[in-house]
Amino acid sequence: MMQMIVGNWKMNGLGASSRDLVTEVAQGLAAMPSAPQVVVCPPFTLLAQLAPMLKGTGILLGAQDCHQAASGAHTGDISAAMLADVGVEYVILGHSERRRDHGELDETVREKATAAAAAGLTPIVCVGESEDQRASGECRDAIGWQIKGSLPDGFSGIVAYEPIWAIGSGVPASSQDIADMMAFIRAELVRQFGATGKTIRILYGGSVNARDAATILPIAEVGGALVGSASLRAETFLPIVRAAV
Ligand code: G3H
Repeated sequence: MMQMIVGNWKMNGLGASSRDLVTEVAQGLAAMPSAPQVVVCPPFTLLAQLAPMLKGTGILLGAQDCHQAASGAHTGDISAAMLADVGVEYVILGHSERRRDHGELDETVREKATAAAAAGLTPIVCVGESEDQRASGECRDAIGWQIKGSLPDGFSGIVAYEPIWAIGSGVPASSQDIADMMAFIRAELVRQFGATGKTIRILYGGSVNARDAATILPIAEVGGALVGSASLRAETFLPIVRAAV
Protein backbone atom coordinates (compact mmCIF):
# COMPACT_ATOMS: atom_id res chain seq x y z
CA MET A 1 0.00 0.00 0.00
CA MET A 2 1.32 3.45 -0.91
CA GLN A 3 2.17 5.46 2.21
CA MET A 4 0.10 8.50 3.15
CA ILE A 5 1.44 11.67 4.75
CA VAL A 6 -1.24 13.88 6.31
CA GLY A 7 -0.45 17.40 7.48
CA ASN A 8 -2.65 18.59 10.33
CA TRP A 9 -2.21 22.33 10.50
CA LYS A 10 -4.32 22.55 13.68
CA MET A 11 -5.29 26.19 14.51
CA ASN A 12 -2.59 27.73 12.33
CA GLY A 13 -2.62 29.55 9.04
CA LEU A 14 -3.85 32.77 7.45
CA GLY A 15 -4.56 33.21 3.75
CA ALA A 16 -1.35 34.51 2.20
CA SER A 17 1.15 32.35 4.08
CA SER A 18 -1.02 29.26 3.60
CA ARG A 19 -1.26 29.82 -0.13
CA ASP A 20 2.55 30.11 -0.21
CA LEU A 21 2.87 26.92 1.81
CA VAL A 22 0.69 24.80 -0.50
CA THR A 23 2.45 26.26 -3.53
CA GLU A 24 5.85 25.24 -2.11
CA VAL A 25 4.62 21.78 -1.13
CA ALA A 26 3.08 21.29 -4.58
CA GLN A 27 6.33 22.36 -6.26
CA GLY A 28 8.36 20.06 -4.05
CA LEU A 29 6.05 17.18 -4.78
CA ALA A 30 6.18 17.80 -8.53
CA ALA A 31 9.97 17.54 -8.37
CA MET A 32 9.87 14.08 -6.77
CA PRO A 33 10.20 11.11 -9.11
CA SER A 34 7.63 9.26 -7.02
CA ALA A 35 5.60 10.39 -4.06
CA PRO A 36 3.26 9.05 -1.40
CA GLN A 37 -0.33 10.26 -1.08
CA VAL A 38 -0.24 13.70 0.52
CA VAL A 39 -3.19 15.24 2.36
CA VAL A 40 -3.25 18.68 3.95
CA CYS A 41 -5.77 19.57 6.65
CA PRO A 42 -5.96 23.36 7.09
CA PRO A 43 -8.46 25.10 9.37
CA PHE A 44 -12.02 25.51 8.05
CA THR A 45 -11.47 29.13 7.00
CA LEU A 46 -8.87 28.17 4.38
CA LEU A 47 -10.54 25.15 2.79
CA ALA A 48 -12.53 26.90 0.08
CA GLN A 49 -9.61 29.06 -1.07
CA LEU A 50 -7.04 26.26 -1.06
CA ALA A 51 -9.22 23.64 -2.80
CA PRO A 52 -8.84 25.09 -6.32
CA MET A 53 -5.07 25.53 -5.81
CA LEU A 54 -4.66 21.83 -5.06
CA LYS A 55 -6.34 20.61 -8.25
CA GLY A 56 -3.83 18.73 -10.40
CA THR A 57 -1.11 18.77 -7.72
CA GLY A 58 -1.84 15.31 -6.34
CA ILE A 59 -2.36 16.86 -2.89
CA LEU A 60 -5.74 16.08 -1.39
CA LEU A 61 -7.68 18.24 1.02
CA GLY A 62 -8.74 17.29 4.53
CA ALA A 63 -10.52 19.03 7.41
CA GLN A 64 -9.92 18.72 11.14
CA ASP A 65 -13.46 17.99 12.37
CA CYS A 66 -17.10 17.86 11.35
CA HIS A 67 -20.39 17.76 13.21
CA GLN A 68 -22.27 14.50 13.54
CA ALA A 69 -25.58 15.95 12.32
CA ALA A 70 -26.31 16.54 8.65
CA SER A 71 -27.59 20.09 9.25
CA GLY A 72 -29.58 22.13 11.72
CA ALA A 73 -29.33 24.28 14.84
CA HIS A 74 -25.65 23.80 15.75
CA THR A 75 -24.20 27.28 15.90
CA GLY A 76 -20.55 27.42 14.92
CA ASP A 77 -20.39 23.88 13.61
CA ILE A 78 -19.64 22.53 10.15
CA SER A 79 -21.29 19.47 8.59
CA ALA A 80 -19.57 16.77 6.56
CA ALA A 81 -21.64 17.72 3.50
CA MET A 82 -20.38 21.31 3.78
CA LEU A 83 -16.82 20.00 3.70
CA ALA A 84 -17.50 17.78 0.70
CA ASP A 85 -19.16 20.74 -1.00
CA VAL A 86 -15.88 22.73 -1.00
CA GLY A 87 -13.72 19.85 -2.20
CA VAL A 88 -12.68 18.18 1.06
CA GLU A 89 -12.05 14.41 0.84
CA TYR A 90 -10.69 13.52 4.30
CA VAL A 91 -11.63 14.57 7.82
CA ILE A 92 -9.66 14.08 11.03
CA LEU A 93 -12.01 13.01 13.83
CA GLY A 94 -11.51 12.48 17.56
CA HIS A 95 -8.10 14.09 17.70
CA SER A 96 -6.93 14.11 21.33
CA GLU A 97 -6.99 17.92 21.29
CA ARG A 98 -10.71 17.83 20.45
CA ARG A 99 -11.33 15.14 23.03
CA ARG A 100 -9.48 17.38 25.54
CA ASP A 101 -10.76 20.83 24.50
CA HIS A 102 -14.32 19.92 23.51
CA GLY A 103 -15.00 16.89 25.67
CA GLU A 104 -15.53 14.66 22.66
CA LEU A 105 -16.35 11.12 23.67
CA ASP A 106 -15.90 7.93 21.67
CA GLU A 107 -19.62 7.85 20.96
CA THR A 108 -19.58 11.31 19.39
CA VAL A 109 -16.51 10.43 17.35
CA ARG A 110 -18.31 7.33 16.10
CA GLU A 111 -21.33 9.40 15.06
CA LYS A 112 -19.05 11.87 13.30
CA ALA A 113 -17.32 9.04 11.43
CA THR A 114 -20.71 7.78 10.27
CA ALA A 115 -21.72 11.28 9.14
CA ALA A 116 -18.42 11.78 7.33
CA ALA A 117 -18.73 8.51 5.42
CA ALA A 118 -22.35 9.32 4.51
CA ALA A 119 -21.13 12.56 2.92
CA GLY A 120 -18.48 10.68 0.94
CA LEU A 121 -15.53 11.73 3.11
CA THR A 122 -12.83 9.40 4.43
CA PRO A 123 -12.63 9.72 8.21
CA ILE A 124 -9.21 9.65 9.90
CA VAL A 125 -10.12 8.59 13.43
CA CYS A 126 -7.49 9.29 16.10
CA VAL A 127 -6.81 7.11 19.09
CA GLY A 128 -4.05 7.41 21.65
CA GLU A 129 -3.23 6.81 25.29
CA SER A 130 -2.25 9.40 27.88
CA GLU A 131 1.04 9.36 29.75
CA ASP A 132 -0.76 8.14 32.90
CA GLN A 133 -2.43 5.29 31.04
CA ARG A 134 0.92 4.21 29.65
CA ALA A 135 2.65 4.51 33.02
CA SER A 136 0.00 2.41 34.72
CA GLY A 137 0.05 -0.31 32.06
CA GLU A 138 -3.44 0.53 30.76
CA CYS A 139 -2.24 1.48 27.33
CA ARG A 140 -3.72 -1.44 25.41
CA ASP A 141 -7.01 -1.31 27.29
CA ALA A 142 -7.33 2.41 26.55
CA ILE A 143 -6.65 1.98 22.85
CA GLY A 144 -8.86 -1.11 22.65
CA TRP A 145 -11.80 0.79 24.16
CA GLN A 146 -11.26 3.78 21.89
CA ILE A 147 -11.23 1.57 18.81
CA LYS A 148 -14.37 -0.24 19.92
CA GLY A 149 -16.13 2.98 20.83
CA SER A 150 -15.01 5.35 18.09
CA LEU A 151 -15.28 3.27 14.93
CA PRO A 152 -18.78 2.62 13.56
CA ASP A 153 -19.92 -0.68 12.08
CA GLY A 154 -18.72 -1.00 8.51
CA PHE A 155 -15.88 1.47 9.10
CA SER A 156 -13.62 1.74 6.08
CA GLY A 157 -11.62 4.86 6.89
CA ILE A 158 -8.21 5.42 8.43
CA VAL A 159 -7.05 5.07 12.03
CA ALA A 160 -4.33 7.33 13.41
CA TYR A 161 -2.42 6.15 16.47
CA GLU A 162 -1.25 9.23 18.33
CA PRO A 163 0.13 8.65 21.82
CA ILE A 164 -0.89 11.85 23.59
CA TRP A 165 2.43 12.12 25.42
CA ALA A 166 4.32 12.21 22.12
CA ILE A 167 2.22 14.95 20.49
CA GLY A 168 4.08 18.24 20.39
CA SER A 169 6.83 16.88 22.63
CA GLY A 170 9.49 16.89 19.92
CA VAL A 171 10.18 13.22 20.59
CA PRO A 172 8.15 10.50 18.87
CA ALA A 173 7.39 7.18 20.54
CA SER A 174 10.18 4.62 20.22
CA SER A 175 10.20 2.25 17.26
CA GLN A 176 9.50 -0.63 19.64
CA ASP A 177 6.49 1.12 21.19
CA ILE A 178 5.16 2.02 17.76
CA ALA A 179 5.64 -1.54 16.47
CA ASP A 180 3.91 -3.02 19.53
CA MET A 181 0.94 -0.68 19.34
CA MET A 182 0.58 -1.03 15.57
CA ALA A 183 0.42 -4.83 15.93
CA PHE A 184 -2.12 -4.46 18.74
CA ILE A 185 -4.28 -2.02 16.76
CA ARG A 186 -4.18 -4.27 13.69
CA ALA A 187 -5.31 -7.24 15.78
CA GLU A 188 -8.15 -5.19 17.29
CA LEU A 189 -9.27 -4.01 13.85
CA VAL A 190 -9.31 -7.57 12.53
CA ARG A 191 -11.21 -8.72 15.61
CA GLN A 192 -13.78 -5.96 15.13
CA PHE A 193 -14.09 -5.87 11.35
CA GLY A 194 -12.83 -9.22 10.10
CA ALA A 195 -11.15 -9.18 6.70
CA THR A 196 -11.78 -5.43 6.28
CA GLY A 197 -9.73 -4.85 9.42
CA LYS A 198 -6.67 -6.07 7.56
CA THR A 199 -7.02 -3.34 4.96
CA ILE A 200 -7.64 -0.32 7.21
CA ARG A 201 -4.71 2.08 6.97
CA ILE A 202 -3.04 2.96 10.27
CA LEU A 203 -1.07 6.20 10.59
CA TYR A 204 1.39 7.09 13.32
CA GLY A 205 1.26 10.62 14.72
CA GLY A 206 3.21 12.38 17.47
CA SER A 207 6.28 14.55 16.81
CA VAL A 208 7.02 13.05 13.39
CA ASN A 209 9.98 14.91 11.90
CA ALA A 210 12.18 14.34 8.88
CA ARG A 211 14.87 12.57 10.89
CA ASP A 212 12.59 10.03 12.56
CA ALA A 213 10.19 9.54 9.64
CA ALA A 214 12.73 7.35 7.86
CA THR A 215 12.73 5.00 10.87
CA ILE A 216 9.02 5.14 11.67
CA LEU A 217 7.49 4.71 8.21
CA PRO A 218 9.02 1.28 7.46
CA ILE A 219 7.69 -0.22 10.74
CA ALA A 220 5.23 -3.04 10.04
CA GLU A 221 1.60 -1.88 9.79
CA VAL A 222 2.54 1.82 9.59
CA GLY A 223 0.66 3.13 6.57
CA GLY A 224 1.87 6.70 6.88
CA ALA A 225 2.11 9.63 9.25
CA LEU A 226 -0.14 12.29 10.72
CA VAL A 227 2.14 15.29 11.05
CA GLY A 228 1.42 18.35 13.18
CA SER A 229 3.98 21.11 13.63
CA ALA A 230 6.34 19.86 10.93
CA SER A 231 3.54 20.25 8.36
CA LEU A 232 3.50 24.03 8.81
CA ARG A 233 6.63 24.68 6.73
CA ALA A 234 7.58 23.18 3.38
CA GLU A 235 11.18 22.72 4.50
CA THR A 236 10.10 20.46 7.37
CA PHE A 237 7.13 18.78 5.64
CA LEU A 238 8.70 17.86 2.30
CA PRO A 239 11.55 15.79 3.79
CA ILE A 240 8.92 13.68 5.59
CA VAL A 241 7.09 13.23 2.29
CA ARG A 242 10.39 12.21 0.67
CA ALA A 243 11.06 9.71 3.45
CA ALA A 244 7.79 8.00 2.57
CA VAL A 245 8.66 7.35 -1.08
O1 G3H B 1 -2.27 15.53 14.33
C1 G3H B 1 -1.06 15.63 14.53
C2 G3H B 1 -0.49 15.28 15.80
O2 G3H B 1 -1.22 15.74 16.89
C3 G3H B 1 0.98 15.42 15.92
O3 G3H B 1 1.37 16.73 16.17
O4 G3H B 1 3.53 16.45 15.00
O5 G3H B 1 3.05 18.50 16.32
O6 G3H B 1 3.44 16.31 17.47
P1 G3H B 1 2.94 17.03 16.24
